[in-house]
Amino acid sequence: MSSAPPAPAATGSIAAEAARRRTFAIISHPDAGKTTLTEKLLLYAGALGGAEAGSVKARQGRREVTSDWMELEKRRGISVSSTVLRFEHAGTVFNLLDTPGHKDFSEDTLRVLSAVDAAVMLIDAAKGVEPQTLRLFEVARARRIPLLTFVNKYDRPGMEPLEVLDHLASVLDLEAIPLNWPVGLPGSFEGVIDRRTDLFHRFTRTSGGATIAPVEVLDAESAAGADEGAWATAREELELLDAVDEEFDDAAFRDGRATALFFGSAVSNFGVGPLLDALVAIAPAPAPRHEVDAAGEPNGVRELEAPFAGLVFKVQANMDPRHRDRIAFVRICSGRFERGMRVTNERTGRTLAMAHAHEVFGRERSLLEEGFPGDVVGVVGAQDLRVGDTLWLEEPARFPAIPSLAPEFFMFVRNGDVSRYKQFRRGLEQLDEEGVVHVLRREAAGDPVPVLAGVGRLQFDVAVNRMEHEFNAAVRLEEAPWTVARRTEPEDVPTVREATGAEVLVRADGTHLAVFRSEFVLQRLERDHPEITLDRLLTR
Ligand code: G4P
Repeated sequence: MSSAPPAPAATGSIAAEAARRRTFAIISHPDAGKTTLTEKLLLYAGALGGAEAGSVKARQGRREVTSDWMELEKRRGISVSSTVLRFEHAGTVFNLLDTPGHKDFSEDTLRVLSAVDAAVMLIDAAKGVEPQTLRLFEVARARRIPLLTFVNKYDRPGMEPLEVLDHLASVLDLEAIPLNWPVGLPGSFEGVIDRRTDLFHRFTRTSGGATIAPVEVLDAESAAGADEGAWATAREELELLDAVDEEFDDAAFRDGRATALFFGSAVSNFGVGPLLDALVAIAPAPAPRHEVDAAGEPNGVRELEAPFAGLVFKVQANMDPRHRDRIAFVRICSGRFERGMRVTNERTGRTLAMAHAHEVFGRERSLLEEGFPGDVVGVVGAQDLRVGDTLWLEEPARFPAIPSLAPEFFMFVRNGDVSRYKQFRRGLEQLDEEGVVHVLRREAAGDPVPVLAGVGRLQFDVAVNRMEHEFNAAVRLEEAPWTVARRTEPEDVPTVREATGAEVLVRADGTHLAVFRSEFVLQRLERDHPEITLDRLLTR
């Protein structure tokens, strides 16, 4: 990549700066085209510098756009870590938070979704909603995140547009409001009608989609002349829609009950411009954030204009193997961030200087001098920052804990080399704090063998790989007998332990996890002891 994106102008008030920011993520199933769309959004925003789209992308077949920080990631060709892409276009500052596509890293995505104001749900026009899309959609819906849906690969045969509407309604129970409508069948896609202006945006293919697709904007009369058949069909379909009064309902969109729908083809650049425009026009800017008190109860909101407060939503070590560093990603929720500022960590009461704050653009980093609500700052080297921490200046703040998923896979982890016990312990501590895996112990049994737990087995591969390469600690994993877990309270521990096939494990932060050999054991306990806490969601 030739250059980092420009820093925002330091002009406006905090509210004005917040208003021109759009912080969002793309959620999709692997292969739906997230990498391609990301790149094309950068192309359309002019954020690739002189580079053409495609140059960011990997050599043959392996996808390693901008988030190939880890050896493991490269070997498997999957994205493990989150990237923050920041770019500015026509006065709007975009923060695009990447999410790992693989289901084993759903935890990461959950955290990222706690830091965005909107999401783009990307769907393959032929395959529709796939399992990982569904899973992420459910998280987005639970958090009421406004969703823009981009139906991709319209240059190939796939569902017809009316079918897409039915599909979203039946699979996701989601009302989709098309803001543009395709002209031409999937496979012979010619352009879109912008429903608000009724103009036909006719696309022209460019070589390999490496440059912006020229668009001809035609009014109804010239469109009919230029493309009689396809245009007439699209018009008829739109009349059908207009008849059922599918007006864009802003309130329903903003609380995630309805999605704004777009058709396009990321690879040939069709429909990418309108999506970018829609992100500016309808995706919400950062808003005041809810706060909680020490007991986790609602406690008003942090106004945008209040002094700086931010939420740590991701901690990542070893992003740059040359530096062996650790970056905490902080979403700014209020106030103005300035590099070097001394802030307080609400959890520990300790202060830290945000001296090495970076903005991160894939692999590139540049120092960020100033930031506003919606921006993401990478704080380098802050050893005691954890996911879920709130940082504040002048006026204390505490944002709600970030939920995490109850683990479904469990492994005993043994130290492979007695002389390196210290490294073993430190490595596990670090991985737990970052949330790479849960590190649990069987306190009561007096058993010193820690247990790793996660929602997918690939999390264990990452843990083992990092233990070996980063901490020089060889480890051996051994299958543990549990298959399901729930958060429980300390007072319920004796009751859980009485059940056959159940055990209680404890995380370093004091979270108690009841683990069960089977769903059946859990159900029996729930039936026999409805009074005890067995919660599906944990927090970090
Ligand atoms: P992901 O990040 O969601 O996993 O998907 P990615 O962008 O890597 O895209 C997956 C495949 O789908 C790629 O093909 C990509 O070129 C293709 N693709 C993306 N958008 C479109 C589109 O609008 N139309 C069509 N027809 N294809 C699209 P590949 O063969 O796996 O890789 P490549 O060799 O093309 O890079």
